[in-house]
Amino acid sequence: MSGPRLFVANWKMNLTRPAARAYAKRLAERIGASRRISELVVAPPFTALQDARDAESRWSLAAQNVAAFSEGAYTGEVSAGMVAEAGCRYVLVGHSERRRLFGETPAVLAAKLARTRESGLIPIYCLGETQEERAAGREEEILAVQVETLAADPAGEPLVVAYEPIWAIGTGQAATAADAAKARAILEGLLVARASVRLLYGGSVSPKNAEELLDGSGMDGFLIGGASLDPDGFATIAGL
Ligand code: PGA
Repeated sequence: MSGPRLFVANWKMNLTRPAARAYAKRLAERIGASRRISELVVAPPFTALQDARDAESRWSLAAQNVAAFSEGAYTGEVSAGMVAEAGCRYVLVGHSERRRLFGETPAVLAAKLARTRESGLIPIYCLGETQEERAAGREEEILAVQVETLAADPAGEPLVVAYEPIWAIGTGQAATAADAAKARAILEGLLVARASVRLLYGGSVSPKNAEELLDGSGMDGFLIGGASLDPDGFATIAGL
């Protein structure tokens, strides 16, 4: 829809601080050797944010999660202001692992979106249907419900939305380019009032399937989990 292609490496709960430094060094080498035109984002665990940061700003940082509250007595939580101060530009909100494993409801996600904006950060809002919902032909309905969570998010602000069908995450079974193109068309319709949206696909993206998926789906980029843990894999997927 708008802006350069965007590739986001979601490390999930992986990589230590030394591993993050080695990753950053290798990614910088790959960028140095290429004529890159895409935007790159790395989403490490909080503990490795400083190590994954690039002093030359060739990529930016995303937090994988953020508190629904601004500050206070919330043991174990990390605020949007804190991750902004740690150098993040983006925040993942609504990843299916947060929704399913940590019980994050639409109300909680709406609060996280609000905190993200208050700190001047850009949300990468994740959504997608389960295998059962897909089998029942309910993709469109599910995406519409999940987009509702963005109702209070300011339409004039830049937004990233990642379509991540749950059946494709970490399964090795990516959506087809046609599946992703269909989701893209639905999301474009649902987000038509937004000034600036980039739509990503996520779910078992690999160096093998990336090119075909990107060209065939019309998506603006990818949110990559497993294959992004290898900086060369991430660089190849991003076309470096
Ligand atoms: P995957 O994860 O690439 O390992 O399927 C994607 C994601 O959960 O963002």
